[in-house]
Amino acid sequence: MSLWGGRFSQASADEFKQFNDSLRFDYVLAPFDIQASRAWAEALLSAELISSAEQQQLDQALAELAQAVTVDPQLPLLSQAEDIHSWVEGELIKRIGDTAKKLHTGRSRNDLVATDLRLLCKQFTQQLIRENLAAVQALLEFAKRYQTSLLPGYTHLQRAQPIVAGHWAMAYVQMLQRDVSRLRDAGKRMDVCPLGSGALAGTTAAIDRQALAHELGFRQACENSLDGVSDRDFALDLLHIASTGMMHLSRLAEDVIFYCSGESGCFAMSDRISSGSSLMPQKKNPDLFELLRGKTGRVLGHLQALFITLKGLPLAYNKDMQEDKEGLFDALQTYQHCLAMLTFALPELSVNQDHAAQQALLGYSNATELADYMVAQGIPFRDAHHLTGSLVLLAQQAGVALEQLDLAAMQQVCPQLQADVYQVLDSQYGLHKRQALGGTGPSAVKLAIKHAEDWLHAA
Ligand code: ARG
Repeated sequence: MSLWGGRFSQASADEFKQFNDSLRFDYVLAPFDIQASRAWAEALLSAELISSAEQQQLDQALAELAQAVTVDPQLPLLSQAEDIHSWVEGELIKRIGDTAKKLHTGRSRNDLVATDLRLLCKQFTQQLIRENLAAVQALLEFAKRYQTSLLPGYTHLQRAQPIVAGHWAMAYVQMLQRDVSRLRDAGKRMDVCPLGSGALAGTTAAIDRQALAHELGFRQACENSLDGVSDRDFALDLLHIASTGMMHLSRLAEDVIFYCSGESGCFAMSDRISSGSSLMPQKKNPDLFELLRGKTGRVLGHLQALFITLKGLPLAYNKDMQEDKEGLFDALQTYQHCLAMLTFALPELSVNQDHAAQQALLGYSNATELADYMVAQGIPFRDAHHLTGSLVLLAQQAGVALEQLDLAAMQQVCPQLQADVYQVLDSQYGLHKRQALGGTGPSAVKLAIKHAEDWLHAA
């Protein structure tokens, strides 16, 4: 049975019904619709719009329905109902008859769907925080395992300066910590209850909306009914966070794909998380990380889609808003799944330590150290930069590393250089110099790990 129809003399065309119905995707709102309905029935009792016996009957039937949906979340899909709200009401009517028809007193699907969606988003927000924390834990374990393993660091994808793999992993810890803080922040903003806004103008029922909001676990009731039924900022917030979070995972994935490539060879994946080629027997492909990178596009697309859907809508509810769900659900599930896959994959990833250490020294990545040495001899940095550049050119032309140039040859370019310059050119030297907060030096990385562990324990 449809929730409307009294003023119609013809039934909906099948074509229209199929186009209009949303049950096939909004059925996932069932537990939240039932939760909101139980609270609403209680509010109706307090407003003396239903009797205590009726409220108990409704509550009992709703509890049974909740149980049925827990056992089989796809149960609603067996019906022809228009949407999840129609399904819940229809099921209640089947179970308890006329009393069920009183449940919709003073409410609308407009305030109901906005409430259901917020309840779902609140739950997802907590789950996403937990998944991010687990991923941070996995990154920390990687960082500790490879706390001192040298790795070439890049800018412009040109070898720049040696770093340690632990420092690389801790950069992503920073990003995920920001994502957690964004989720917490959005969680506070979405914690406002629209139920009791009616269709758009507020409800005629004498409802204590603050009590209703608290009953549903919200911080407070929304303060404008037009905004209450039409606000989807909380969905945009989550889509934006999912997009940022996925962008972080995508950049991490890109780094891993590169470090696992034949050209770099600094990282290796276990067989458990890589796949082969149907044609080229030698291949071992980083599919897992490519999928993390690839799924990012989908999530970013859902953010754009909802912005564009909402941008021209007049107040208050418009059916366009039914389009908020599929992309949002897909984005949140994808983000959650990708975080879980990263957590799963990190222990399967290793650093080829000897090879990576050798690679870290190539490409004149100790040139900055040489320039700094000259500065210590009293040469202004700009001149030191130029002189070091000339020495790099000299070494390049001879096909050797800076530390392989002999002192006499170097002194021709820069007479201030002494024999102790070779200490400065050693791979460990530059690393140990970078001890200031946030650097790749051993004590700085150790401190970063300690800070992140403290943060995780407090989370
Ligand atoms: N299925 C609808 C949605 O998701 C529920 C709200 C319907 N409201 C209405 N006035 N037709 O947006």
